[in-house]
Amino acid sequence: MNIHVDESLGLFHLQSKGTSYIIRLVEGYPAHIYWGSQLRHDRGLASLPELRERSSFCPNPVPGKHEISLDSLPQEYPQYGSSDFRQPAYQALLADGSRITELKYAGYQIIPGKPALEGLPAVYAENESEALTLELNLVDVYSGLKVALLYTVFANHSAITRSARFEHGGAAALRLEQALSASLDFADPDYEALYLSGAWARERHVQRRALGPGALRLESRRGSSSHQLNPFLALLRPGTDEDHGDAYGFSLVYSGSFAIEAEVEQFGMTRVTLGINPFDFSWLLEPGQSFQTPEAVLVYSAEGIGGMSRTYHRLYRTRLCRGVHRDQARPILVNNWEATYFNFDADKIEAIAKEAGPLGIELFVLDDGWFGKRDSDNSSLGDWFEDKRKLPGGLGDLAGRVNAQGLKFGLWVEPEMISPDSELYRKHPDWCLHAADRRRTEGRNQLILDLSRQDVCDYLYETLSAVFASAPIAYVKWDMNRNMTEIVSASAPADRQRETAHRYMLGLYDLLERLTSRFPDILFESCSGGGGRFDPGMLYYMPQTWTSDDTDAVERLAIQYGTSIVYPASSMGAHISAVPNHQVDRITSLAMRGDVAMSGNFGYELDLTKFTEAEKALAAKQIAQYKEIRTLVQQGDMYRLLSPFEGRGDTAWMFVSEDKSEAFVAYFRVLAEPNGPLRRLQLKGLDPNQNYTLETGAAADGQSPFDALVGGGAWGGDRLMKIGLTVSDLRGDFTSCTFRLKAVQA
Ligand code: DGJ
Repeated sequence: MNIHVDESLGLFHLQSKGTSYIIRLVEGYPAHIYWGSQLRHDRGLASLPELRERSSFCPNPVPGKHEISLDSLPQEYPQYGSSDFRQPAYQALLADGSRITELKYAGYQIIPGKPALEGLPAVYAENESEALTLELNLVDVYSGLKVALLYTVFANHSAITRSARFEHGGAAALRLEQALSASLDFADPDYEALYLSGAWARERHVQRRALGPGALRLESRRGSSSHQLNPFLALLRPGTDEDHGDAYGFSLVYSGSFAIEAEVEQFGMTRVTLGINPFDFSWLLEPGQSFQTPEAVLVYSAEGIGGMSRTYHRLYRTRLCRGVHRDQARPILVNNWEATYFNFDADKIEAIAKEAGPLGIELFVLDDGWFGKRDSDNSSLGDWFEDKRKLPGGLGDLAGRVNAQGLKFGLWVEPEMISPDSELYRKHPDWCLHAADRRRTEGRNQLILDLSRQDVCDYLYETLSAVFASAPIAYVKWDMNRNMTEIVSASAPADRQRETAHRYMLGLYDLLERLTSRFPDILFESCSGGGGRFDPGMLYYMPQTWTSDDTDAVERLAIQYGTSIVYPASSMGAHISAVPNHQVDRITSLAMRGDVAMSGNFGYELDLTKFTEAEKALAAKQIAQYKEIRTLVQQGDMYRLLSPFEGRGDTAWMFVSEDKSEAFVAYFRVLAEPNGPLRRLQLKGLDPNQNYTLETGAAADGQSPFDALVGGGAWGGDRLMKIGLTVSDLRGDFTSCTFRLKAVQA
């Protein structure tokens, strides 16, 4: 890790673990020179990119220098209006009505460690030896607008974080109409885009396609990061696979509407920009005021997609997630949502907890329906007091009854919402996002509280604090079940209405900061109809997320595989639910449902009182097995072996301990295949020089294609990775098996 600066050459060479990122000033404009495998520092790195005179259609900002056009200069934070016709990084409307600004170099500073971003979630450094930050200062002399570009490099991660801080040093107010977090230009167009798309119950499926002339735009206009497109893009060299080749990841630490674009321009350069979606955004900057963009996390891997993912996993697991639960084993839980929906009372909950205790389950989560008079989804959001019809003794009594079964108690809330049929709405009809005198568009019969308002956030802080303090609550599931419409705040003036969506996010982040600081021992899990807000922003406050409302084991293979492209297993809630599955009606074995759920934060979401004795016996084995492997799953390195998006959907992945002495492998065959070819499962991430013994998962329901290998002595790590294990016949659809590897002394 280092930042080399040679100001006389205009050279900035940033070295993050194993990577180099090079910026060179060209006529005061910060040009992007290189990002990739680490280079030795040398003055020669300052040699200019090839500048070539083009045509009169590429105007020249420097008189007499026809070889310089902003339209063909690879840049770090480009503007529109003075000769670059590509996607700009920012746009400022000045008092004179023009949108012409020109940011030029004005100095730099190097800061040990990594400064926090005010009011925003961000990757952090625990001490100054972990990171170094470059602040590159740019100024538009005409308007007085200043921009500080922030770059942080890390000793232990091949990542570079970027963001921009705007400061208005001029005399007249201006309006930011676009303020992206980062922009950079690759020298050529030969990349494929990898990204994650989907819908409710079908989140984060992997998409891959070649770039070509024109732009690929990934965005959300929903007021949340969304089920539909995750705030993430990777550019891959053609041929890059899980283990080989160049992968460049761009991940945005933000939970609201975002935009990520990859634009291939006329000369074949590829510009990537990312940040808050400029659509429906603006921000008024009075003289002296500043605006901080969210953070973009850039990861380079020379070891393919898998290498990129593992860098994100470690960075997000250890330096984005925070709090006492960050490094602790996450509890095995049972949640009553799919068991009871709204139809429960304290006795029913206690009955489920009574079954859960002896199985070894550690936490009971009381889901939706415990408050107000909420018997369905058409009322009571906002009325955060117990429904005494269902819980006559209140939350304290119920928590006590659950605790008596040896389980901790957790609670569901959906604080950002308000039901029109609620006491809160009758008292404060103007507290929701709405446009005066217009229809208030409902989603799931609910409206969204206006978290851009301090009074609303303060009310939520007090109300939720009272709930969380009212009982021994060890866990909170924070849900959010619709997207924003009529994004207007009753408390904001007309010329600041387009700030509302971002101010909402700032209000939410501040509320979460206050609540998680006040209740440091509560484990928070975020949720938005499953994975509608599965993003790095939320992980900063809540170290785990409910991955998807789809609990079907086969659908989950794709969802969890796709999610793992960026996010660690420790961030993914994964539960066994009943069959036929409630989302797709599919019937899969309890063993397979278990093997899928054990690949994340494990739990059950069904009525345990309906389990047969045989099912209970298998569940007890699953729970015992998970307790043995959860540190590996939650803190190990994940290697994806077979993709559900390729071939017949067979899926496999494994988790390896940091010292490579242990591994856990899960293999899933979705559809049986008659008389198929012999298949080999080649393992990854092991120490080639160590020998490993195999143990099949305690929860296997009879058949394992690897049984022949168990007890068969020790297998070389090199052999397991290069020759692999032959997968013998598996009969029937929806089968799976898991096994553990342990290094033994040779
Ligand atoms: C959506 C969540 O994703 C579900 O798990 C459940 O909590 C429901 N909301 C409750 O309304």
